Amino acid sequence: MPLSRLVTAAVATSCLALLPLVTASPAGASGGPAAPDRPLRQLAADDHLRVGTAVDMSALADDSVYRRLTGSEFSAVTPENVMKWESVEPRQGEYDYAAADHLVDFARRHGQQVRGHVLVWHSQLPPWLTSGDFGADQLRAILHRHITDTVRHFRGRVWQWDVVNEAFNEDGTLRDSIWLRALGPGYIEDAFRWAHEADPHALLFYNDYNTEWTGPKSDAVYDLVSRLRAEGVPIDGVGFQGHLSIRYDLPTGMAANFARFDRLGLDTAVTEADVRMAVPADDAKSATQAEGYRRLLDACLRTPHCVSFTVWGFTDRYSWVPGTFPGEGAANLFDEDYRPKPAYRALESELAGRARPRSAH
Ligand code: G3I
Repeated sequence: MPLSRLVTAAVATSCLALLPLVTASPAGASGGPAAPDRPLRQLAADDHLRVGTAVDMSALADDSVYRRLTGSEFSAVTPENVMKWESVEPRQGEYDYAAADHLVDFARRHGQQVRGHVLVWHSQLPPWLTSGDFGADQLRAILHRHITDTVRHFRGRVWQWDVVNEAFNEDGTLRDSIWLRALGPGYIEDAFRWAHEADPHALLFYNDYNTEWTGPKSDAVYDLVSRLRAEGVPIDGVGFQGHLSIRYDLPTGMAANFARFDRLGLDTAVTEADVRMAVPADDAKSATQAEGYRRLLDACLRTPHCVSFTVWGFTDRYSWVPGTFPGEGAANLFDEDYRPKPAYRALESELAGRARPRSAH
């Protein structure tokens, strides 16, 4: 086990030990319904797992129930948008880390780890970058600087980084992007090397969707990370986003897929779980949704080095889904009024019913 992993594990363990024993507030006492008796973070700690959520910073600022549940239910947080390039460097050379720093401070106060999201992606890039007329050498320097400055800024405060996000198409070919066009496929390994130089203790992840099961895309990610490991590129883990829809059959074989990455000596994580449906919800759809969440968590818990299970938002009150998939939504663990749904109960009982031993590579 590398020293960096040992240090992280030690920090994680000490943080878990210091978790505030958040108890349920009486219904309505702080402006919302009661939190469940044993929050997910406590149940997950018994299984040596961090349970996280993506955080919407406007909701965190404006909605006290959202804020309370973010702190009490989860032991890790991911900024939903505020660490993305368009947010941290809206004008070239002018960094604005204020919103992301705010979340990192929130996490520290609540004994939570931070998943840094995201360093290299084709989306949510600032206009100065996408509309600039940069040559390959300039783009390489710009990417190097972005990774170095951002990772250094959060050095020691970010547990896992999504270094490269969504680099593949569904057929397993590399996605056309500003990075692939200008720099060729080598941008991926460069990104990991640069991130490692900037914070040798952060865990560095490749992250993607529709890779939870085996198929051309997951095989391509597997081939990539196998090669990176063999070549000594500093990659620590693979993130499976876990954006499911009950419109399709729920996936099978996820644990076997996670296991082959585990056998490479990599950590794994579920990084963005949600299970959407055509709205309105009903009991049957909610039950199928709960099974989707349960399967994702089950795959993680069966994988010895699956270190965190993160949902992409936890309440239907705030979700990216309706804006992206018109007519779909209700994808989260709590409804719009913060009532826990069957999906929440499924995670709760899955966590409570397991006793996963601590495991280290
Ligand atoms: O920043 C502008 C703001 O200035 C403006 O007032 C507002 C008006 O709509 O829009 C804001 O931008 C929005 C941004 O989120 C920040 O809130 C964009 O319109 C909106 O499209 C953007 O959506 C995000 C999406 O990534 C963009 O690709 C979602 O919130 C976020 O949940 C989603 O997250 C991604 C992960 O990063 C990667 N994996 C897939 C996942 C879901 O798409």
